Amino acid sequence: MSIGTLPAAAGTQHELRIRALDHAFGRDEVLAGIDFRLRAGEVVALVGPSGCGKTTLLHLAAGLLTVQAGEVSNSFSSTAFMFQQPRLLPWKTALDNIALGLKAACVGRDERHFRARELALRLGLAHRDLDKFPHQLSGGMQSRVALARALVLAPELLLLDEPFSALDVGLKEELYRLLLAQQAEQGMGVLMITHDLMEAVRLSDAILVMAPAPGRIVCRFELGQPAASRDDAWVYHHTAELLQTAAVRDSFGLPPAVPALAAVPAVRPGAGLRLVVPAEPVLGARGGARCGG
Ligand SMILES: Nc1ncnc2c1ncn2[C@@H]1O[C@H](COP(=O)(O)OP(=O)(O)OP(=O)(O)O)[C@@H](O)[C@H]1O
Ligand SMILES: [Mg+2]
Repeated sequence: MSIGTLPAAAGTQHELRIRALDHAFGRDEVLAGIDFRLRAGEVVALVGPSGCGKTTLLHLAAGLLTVQAGEVSNSFSSTAFMFQQPRLLPWKTALDNIALGLKAACVGRDERHFRARELALRLGLAHRDLDKFPHQLSGGMQSRVALARALVLAPELLLLDEPFSALDVGLKEELYRLLLAQQAEQGMGVLMITHDLMEAVRLSDAILVMAPAPGRIVCRFELGQPAASRDDAWVYHHTAELLQTAAVRDSFGLPPAVPALAAVPAVRPGAGLRLVVPAEPVLGARGGARCGG
């Protein structure tokens, strides 16, 4: 078994490829047999119960943790990361926090402030907020600053750890539109952790469902309609469908679906969720979740 973070072969399509990835903290086995691929232009959501290893997996994908077993191969030329906690520098204003990566990339002061300000305003921050320090911002403002800090770099691969969890429902909708527009414009690959199944159904091309102890991917769903053309009815319907799936219920520790609820009528045949059963039995699986309808 190969170990480490490898550069991908030249000439191949940009992708993040994770193969047979295991991870342990001391004697705690946190991830087992993680295997998936994310290509340029794809949005993949990672869902699973608290503590199942989602953040650990994202940190491994970003190269923030050393790979112990298996392989992480990232051929995107630039990667930006948004942490679960905003992690803003307390001695810098909101504007300077957003512009931080541009400064590191040697973009001049005026240019980086212009780009940071423009994006911050699109994310719903006000001019007056940009001169504030992190402790003067609300939790939702801090997470928008953190999202702006990642987006302003226009990365080819964007890794997001619960980017919208601190935001109200109106702002979420606004930021969903912005993220999708930016993603379509730039063809970014996005790997996004979320606890919100509706958010996953609204935004992603594929949903990876993780189960805990050890963290492993038990199912992959592919969504058969471009995110930009999904309306509320489609999203509600397919979120309900996802929630009735045995693997999802098992993974989140929910009781089996009652038959009346389980019969979710199809919105439009062929354009909904497609369950992709893992090609091979999931390594390290110990009872618990399995794919199934
Ligand atoms: N640096 C660390 N040292 C030791 N254990 C860790 C460390 N980071 C995470 N863990 C453990 O690994 C497990 C997975 O944590 P992780 O943060 O990846 O979960 P998560 O799925 O992101 O949870 P949540 O949804 O609550 O954010 C947990 O048991 C956690 O205690
Ligand atoms: Mg986490």
